[in-house]
Amino acid sequence: MTLAKDPTATSSARLKQISIVGAGAIGQLIYHQLSSAVNASSVSLNIISRAQHSKQQKLTFTDLNNVESTYIAELVGQDDYGQQLPKTDLLIVCVKAYQVVAALKILIPMLSSHCHILLLHNGMGPHLDVANMLKGQSLTLGTTSQGALKQSAWHTKQTGKGITQLGTFNTESIFNSQSTVNTKNAFHPQKAFSQQRASKQRVLPESLKNILLSAIPHSQWCVDILTMLWQKLAINVAINPLTAIHHCHNGQLADEQYRDIITAVVIELVNVAKAEHISLALPAILDKVYQVIALTAANYSSMHQDVQHQRTTEIDAINGFVVQMAKRHGIATPHNQQLVDHIKHLELQYQR
Ligand code: PAF
Repeated sequence: MTLAKDPTATSSARLKQISIVGAGAIGQLIYHQLSSAVNASSVSLNIISRAQHSKQQKLTFTDLNNVESTYIAELVGQDDYGQQLPKTDLLIVCVKAYQVVAALKILIPMLSSHCHILLLHNGMGPHLDVANMLKGQSLTLGTTSQGALKQSAWHTKQTGKGITQLGTFNTESIFNSQSTVNTKNAFHPQKAFSQQRASKQRVLPESLKNILLSAIPHSQWCVDILTMLWQKLAINVAINPLTAIHHCHNGQLADEQYRDIITAVVIELVNVAKAEHISLALPAILDKVYQVIALTAANYSSMHQDVQHQRTTEIDAINGFVVQMAKRHGIATPHNQQLVDHIKHLELQYQR
């Protein structure tokens, strides 16, 4: 199948390569979902690898019905970055939040200015740095509640259904809230604003959008993606550190003993979001947190798994992001800070 001509793009002939960075469980899940969708089309799919040399890799995927599929994936090694990255039309970044900026520092200079970048990770924050690093590329943000677990390096199992929300990072929307702040990842809205004005290419074309939405089950395009990301962040600030600290399944957080701390961290987040012009209704957000606790009751959260496997956690992009944004607005977030400190303390025990 050849992609239909995209009326919103200047050249549909350019829409030919999707690359995934980060072959963790979510990266491999997205690879599987996209390969089913792009199999018969002229779109090619590859994985950007950290290895020196390119190679073909057998991937195994087990779906929710325990049906196994295998693929031969093209892993693009550093030797071939210069040849492959300029041809990439959509770069889907599935590395952990704390790896996003370092990975894109290397990759962005090799991408064409027509490339589109999609960030798909837990937590928030890296988008502010990435927005300042772009060389004309558009930035789409996403969040997924799909569950996936690696069985081995190249075998991933889907563990849960969930919605995936995607949307354009509208640089104009945060012009007022961040233009006077000078922090490590302060966003330079004037620069991004003029880039956005200068080129209509800076939004994901319909053809690529349609590929994503048809490939990823229960995915939706959200005009207000930042609100969606804050909503997901509320789920993560409550579930992730508490399950890691108390070494429990998500479902255990329904116990009464966790109610006060869950309410406190979510109230702090709602206050910070409000200062960022994101309006979240506390009762609805708390309901959502408890719905996810119930729906994923048997799962271990990603932060629980990170701590158990002695990996760096995403705490800086989860509760740490709330604390960081709160500081900009002079808002106190002692409960989120306490969870950040606790997780950092756990990390120190194995990272020493
Ligand atoms: O990070 C995670 O584990 C997930 O985002 C969630 C929704 C908390 C379920 O475990």
